[in-house]
Amino acid sequence: PHRRLLVFGSINADLVTSPDRLPSPGETVLSPSYQMVNGGKGANQAVAAARSRISVSNPVLMVGAVGRDAFADQAVGDLQSNGVDVRYVARTASPTGCAFIAVDPSGENMITVALGANLDAQATQLTMELVTSGTILLMQNEIPMSEAIKAARQAREAGAMTILNLAPAPEGEAAAAIRDLLGSIDILVVNEHEFAVVCQVLCIPDCDGPKARVAALSKDIGADVVVTMGASGTLLGPSSGPVVHKPALAVAPVDTTGAGDTLTGVLAASLLDGLPLEDALTRANRAETLSCMAMGARDGMPSAAALDASLMATAAA
Ligand code: RIB
Ligand code: NA
Repeated sequence: PHRRLLVFGSINADLVTSPDRLPSPGETVLSPSYQMVNGGKGANQAVAAARSRISVSNPVLMVGAVGRDAFADQAVGDLQSNGVDVRYVARTASPTGCAFIAVDPSGENMITVALGANLDAQATQLTMELVTSGTILLMQNEIPMSEAIKAARQAREAGAMTILNLAPAPEGEAAAAIRDLLGSIDILVVNEHEFAVVCQVLCIPDCDGPKARVAALSKDIGADVVVTMGASGTLLGPSSGPVVHKPALAVAPVDTTGAGDTLTGVLAASLLDGLPLEDALTRANRAETLSCMAMGARDGMPSAAALDASLMATAAA
């Protein structure tokens, strides 16, 4: 049984603008104001996991790095108030990571992340007591990939379960290192764009549609592969057995920022609670949809009770 969820990843402050439309290169658009909210893919996933947990006995721990500025206090405080253990968050001389986000009226977004202190996150922060066979290690791609590779290997050796949300999609040198990282991963979570990037780097052809490609990727890397497709739902390529499609509820999204983080965090939390992968994905898939119904990365992330109520309502309908 799993005893703890360890999120090794990024912690950001999000500065969110709401222009009438997203700018093109060289263009300026106006937004009436902006909001500062807590974000970062790692921290978002830790919060999504902590909020949706069925059992409170297994802790969610955040491992990463922030600066010594005001954004850091706010980021760490919000993790704590969501029940995430922040003992292993380091403070460094770099500025806390900051994401500059624009969201248009249809909920579509455009994001630039200044990584800052996230570049100081180190695999050595993961002590031997933290990484055991009872650990689920969850990572994303907003910390140095070299550190993620070390952490994944350490977890694999300890017999831990490893989940990677390869977001945002790696480019350049990091893209070339994908295979190294995937060698120690049990479950890969990607959106359609990230899926295409991984398949391209690993030379997985696209001959017979997405289902066949998911199956081929899953077989190639020896891991379960989850592909999130927004309104089209989610594909699961289990390393053994046929590809499963989970449809999404039809909704009018307010802000899709953090949707993938919600899915990934809830997936990890559900596995921590002991659910089989497919059932965990059903919960995660619904949580993703619910998360799009509020502004910001975290406001729409459901509690376990809200998630159960939504699943029961559609089962009854
Ligand atoms: O996935 C959403 C997150 O990506 C935002 O919170 C922002 O910080 C960026 O890292
Ligand atoms: Na949202």
